[in-house]
Amino acid sequence: MSNSPIQTMYRREFLEQVGWVSLGTMAAAGLTGRAAAGQESQAQKPWQPVSDRKVRVGVVGYGVCRFGAAFGFQDHPNVEIVAVSDLIPERRQTLMKACRCEKSYESLEVLVQDPKIEAVFVATDAPSHARHCIDVLRHGKHVMTAVPAVFGSVEEAERLLEAVKKAGLKYMMAETSCYRADCYGMRQIYQAGGFGRLVYSEGEYYHYSKTPIDSFNGWRIGMPPLWYPTHSTAYYVGVTDKRFTTVSCVGFDAGYPHNRPGANRYNNPFSDEVALFGTSEGGSSRMLMCKGIQGRVVEQGRVFGEKGWMDGITYQGAFKELPDITRPALPPGMAGGGHGGSHGYLTDEFITSILADRKPRVDVYEALAMTVPGLIAHQSALKGGETLKVPQYEPPKT
Ligand SMILES: NC(=O)c1ccc[n+]([C@@H]2O[C@H](COP(=O)([O-])OP(=O)(O)OC[C@H]3O[C@@H](n4cnc5c(N)ncnc54)[C@H](O)[C@@H]3O)[C@@H](O)[C@H]2O)c1
Repeated sequence: MSNSPIQTMYRREFLEQVGWVSLGTMAAAGLTGRAAAGQESQAQKPWQPVSDRKVRVGVVGYGVCRFGAAFGFQDHPNVEIVAVSDLIPERRQTLMKACRCEKSYESLEVLVQDPKIEAVFVATDAPSHARHCIDVLRHGKHVMTAVPAVFGSVEEAERLLEAVKKAGLKYMMAETSCYRADCYGMRQIYQAGGFGRLVYSEGEYYHYSKTPIDSFNGWRIGMPPLWYPTHSTAYYVGVTDKRFTTVSCVGFDAGYPHNRPGANRYNNPFSDEVALFGTSEGGSSRMLMCKGIQGRVVEQGRVFGEKGWMDGITYQGAFKELPDITRPALPPGMAGGGHGGSHGYLTDEFITSILADRKPRVDVYEALAMTVPGLIAHQSALKGGETLKVPQYEPPKT
């Protein structure tokens, strides 16, 4: 089957963008081709500052993933890192060095009392995200959080939403899939009408882990897979801004010791969960998080619409000309970074939303629409796949 002109053009563009680095180098660096494409696009577009002001930021959390320093706040020209924190003194010290910052506090709870700080990056353990974000907002500061927005609790989602509404400050969830080059491109094409309504979409987070990855207080041990859904759900919600309405989910038990009865705090028997969602535009989405598939570690997705479809770097459809699908420019000195070159874009988006006083790309409504459906999917899996309704988080009409 021959390629369409659009498919050929997009593939050529992709190959040009990755031309500076061999596929072998990307594999060695743990990056996908999509990551390299994003990093290269930075060189092609000039970055336009919206202000010369520096936002005064606090950074919290330097755990196993060393996330506090991984998003490049310390390199953003519009950021001054005022202070950092981690509960563990050695991590606090290393985070200070990594952020080139001379001040630290023993906890987030103390850091948020510093009146100089106007925004906080919460990179703490997942079960603490909502509580920590609420604390930050109550102290009158903007907040960006690592994923997920909430951990296993719909009530927590309600509390977080109320806190954001009450504070009237910026809240953003740093979902990395949203700034992977493929997902970002899918969004541009969807918003321009190149897919029509999505008939079907797929989002996948495979992370083979026979032994749980280390974590603060062991929160990853036996975690229900779809309590961590956002890398997958971004491939529908992050593309369309539409919603999941119903879900039926099937769980699988790979036989890990930490999923045996009584072996984890969540009473969760599953290593893998695969959910089928109904969507608000009348289609369906298959979203999964799997830890039991030997050797498979990848985050990816696909969209299939009435007018076209896209699988990774390939668009095929009715559009003869694509909108600009490359990611925005990054400030000089900032790298795209990890997870498909997405980190730097998320930081820049958060900081720009503060400076320009506009909605951040993944605000609280989008964050909850990506997170909460996974919690309901896990409930469905525990009920043998019963179809359940998904709570809705709709932004106010402007
Ligand atoms: N692609 C992605 O977006 C992606 C990838 C990996 C991790 N994450 C998320 O990033 C977050 C961090 O991951 P991790 O593996 O480093 O977590 P972790 O559990 O290893 O570490 C959490 C850190 O937060 C610190 N902390 C907890 N409460 C604190 C408080 N009150 N004050 C100061 N410090 C506090 C702990 O001391 C610990 O060092 C997690 O929530 C995870 O879900 C996202």
